[in-house]
Amino acid sequence: MRMRIKKHGAERLAACGNLLLDRPATPIASSCDVIGEDLPLWLEIGCGKGDFACGMAEMHPDVCFVALERISNVMVNAVEKATARAEFRPDRLRFAVADAATLPEWFAPQSLDAIFLNFSDPWPKKGHTKRRLTHRAFLSTYFSLLKSGGRLAFKTDNVGLFDFTLEELAALGKTPDALTRDLHNSPYNEGNVETEYEKNFSQKGYPIHYLTVTV
Ligand SMILES: C[S@@+](CC[C@H](N)C(=O)[O-])C[C@H]1O[C@@H](n2cnc3c(N)ncnc32)[C@H](O)[C@@H]1O
Repeated sequence: MRMRIKKHGAERLAACGNLLLDRPATPIASSCDVIGEDLPLWLEIGCGKGDFACGMAEMHPDVCFVALERISNVMVNAVEKATARAEFRPDRLRFAVADAATLPEWFAPQSLDAIFLNFSDPWPKKGHTKRRLTHRAFLSTYFSLLKSGGRLAFKTDNVGLFDFTLEELAALGKTPDALTRDLHNSPYNEGNVETEYEKNFSQKGYPIHYLTVTV
């Protein structure tokens, strides 16, 4: 995602500090470590400007939702969006500026109930395969962080990345329990919260590919 450097980005992030998580001294074991309440703990990786995180927090008020984004300049939009929404108080929504590669420093094994990957960067060049957030090395980490019965959900417009993800899952012996190549015209669309990229691509006529895997 290309962006101009935000004016006063660091100060603007700091002003929303109560929603921002610091890197924990020891990995987060449950939602108690995040919000002081024992609730399902859901994580979005690569939240971009935060539409999905805000929408999910609003739709699922009894869940602790953590949205992770590696670019602080992008995160400014997400955090400001959450604080500006008058229609809900994001009591159980938190944001973390972090790279997915550092996830084990943030979350303990079997601490998460759900992980969401939305429109992850496709990294189409063969030499960049390992950067894809659905490379088997990342998938193995996600599965180790999910509780038994926890769920990974992935959606994208990118056919190549979706097919690659299916291959990587198969290599790990995992089979999707939900799969569609046209999310918006499928039963799985009920309760679907659209992301910025999703709105953009579906307006242009691209079908949205979607899958879930339960651990
Ligand atoms: C294509 S954008 C999609 C944004 C949003 N999920 C959406 O659907 O509108 C991908 C986002 O993932 C973030 N991202 C990419 N690699 C990441 C990583 N390794 N760790 C955390 N965030 C990452 C990017 O900075 C970018 O904001």
